[in-house]
Amino acid sequence: MTETVESVLNDVIKHIRPDIDEREAVKALTELIIERVNSKAASMGINARAISVGSTARDTWLSGEADIDIFIMFPAEMSEHELKDKGLLLAKSVSDRYEERYASHPYIHAHFRYGGMEYGVDLVPCFAVKDATSLKSAVDRTPFHNEYVRKRLPGLEDEVRLLKQFLRCLGIYGSEQRRKGFSGYLCELLILKYRSFLELLNHAANWRYGERIDIEGHGQYRGDDPLIVIDPVDASRNVAAAVSPYSFCRLIDAAREFLASPAREFFLPKEAKTLSESEFRRILKDRGTYFIIIRFKAPDVVEDILYPQLRKAETSVRRLMERNDFVVYRSDVTVNGDNALLVFELLVWQLPGIKKHIGPPVTLRKHAEKFKSRHSPPFLIEDCRYVVEVKRRYTDVMSLLKTELRSCNLGKHLSKVVEESGYEVLTPEELQITPGISSFFRNYFGKS
Ligand code: UTP
Ligand code: MN
Ligand code: MN
Repeated sequence: MTETVESVLNDVIKHIRPDIDEREAVKALTELIIERVNSKAASMGINARAISVGSTARDTWLSGEADIDIFIMFPAEMSEHELKDKGLLLAKSVSDRYEERYASHPYIHAHFRYGGMEYGVDLVPCFAVKDATSLKSAVDRTPFHNEYVRKRLPGLEDEVRLLKQFLRCLGIYGSEQRRKGFSGYLCELLILKYRSFLELLNHAANWRYGERIDIEGHGQYRGDDPLIVIDPVDASRNVAAAVSPYSFCRLIDAAREFLASPAREFFLPKEAKTLSESEFRRILKDRGTYFIIIRFKAPDVVEDILYPQLRKAETSVRRLMERNDFVVYRSDVTVNGDNALLVFELLVWQLPGIKKHIGPPVTLRKHAEKFKSRHSPPFLIEDCRYVVEVKRRYTDVMSLLKTELRSCNLGKHLSKVVEESGYEVLTPEELQITPGISSFFRNYFGKS
């Protein structure tokens, strides 16, 4: 039985829209923190003002997922150094439990208990710049985003919630490096553009690579991203810059699937299903490929720094294998507890002992002589070039990796941990199949 789209969406909204109690608690806690920051600032003689931003300020958060975003605005003339010192000092002074976090910008992530519930609160110092194009730090646009959305979004909040939940269940909500998906602000802009979740899906189902959305018609951004959504408050910026080709295509595909047969399942978070050890072994056997896992201690840096580094290391190790004639079929990276893992699946992992070394064209006499003086016969001729057969240095990929991995460009942080605590090259047999590893492979194999 297929249900009507309307009944599905209405039902989903009931579950993801916060109820009156949650709303009031979030509002009261937000006001309380702002009040604390402002009076603390006054008593310390700091010229700063806290404001509420993000999804809790715009009424677009998902029930039970409230993350309260509070920006502490400092005069634009202040130095970055002073902003950081005073901003973090102020943020810490109003929080009991917190961590200091750095992405492109330092901020405090605090935990507050309120009305029997636990809330995560981001306290972010920023500069009160005069407009969004003259920013001094990466987050100075946020107050302008806030203004823009608050003025235009009322009435469409539930549509944003549907979109966020839909993307969340697809694993592509959030612009972090680990996901490279759609940020909250991007969701709000997409709904402002298309006016409803359903209308967005209707369009997304026909999107082409490089789709361009420019609500204010003022875009000056050129780039070859899959999706370009010009920031209404800054014509030079693509709000969808973080959306990867994968996330972009995933949404297009899911839009078509949902429109063809709408169902509540699209909005249900997937249980963290795992593969049993025997299922896992059977899949490996059926594939007939060869897996190699490089494991080392994950460096102690934020995810947004860690993931790009892991991706770089993945590419660099892949190139090392390919330079040595091994054939990589697919690869991926994951973090499991304290460890980072680079996973490679190979089509060719063992090679014969000989390999061709191609020399110069026979017709280039000088080069030919030089080549012949450096190598020993027999000199074969192929396609009018000299060819000698040489002994291959690595005939199996394990020995290559065990010997040469350190010569790969692993990036600053990874090189350091590899230097300090080494690395292991494992086969799946040597890997303990923890729930985390199992769900990684489940995704890797595309099992939903
Ligand atoms: P959030 O990541 O909390 O997103 O960023 P959100 O819009 O509130 O959505 P959810 O519901 O929590 O997932 C809060 C604000 O901070 C800005 C964004 O503009 C957003 O409005 N921000 C966030 C930045 O400017 N830079 C960042 O790196 C992250
Ligand atoms: Mn938020
Ligand atoms: Mn936040």
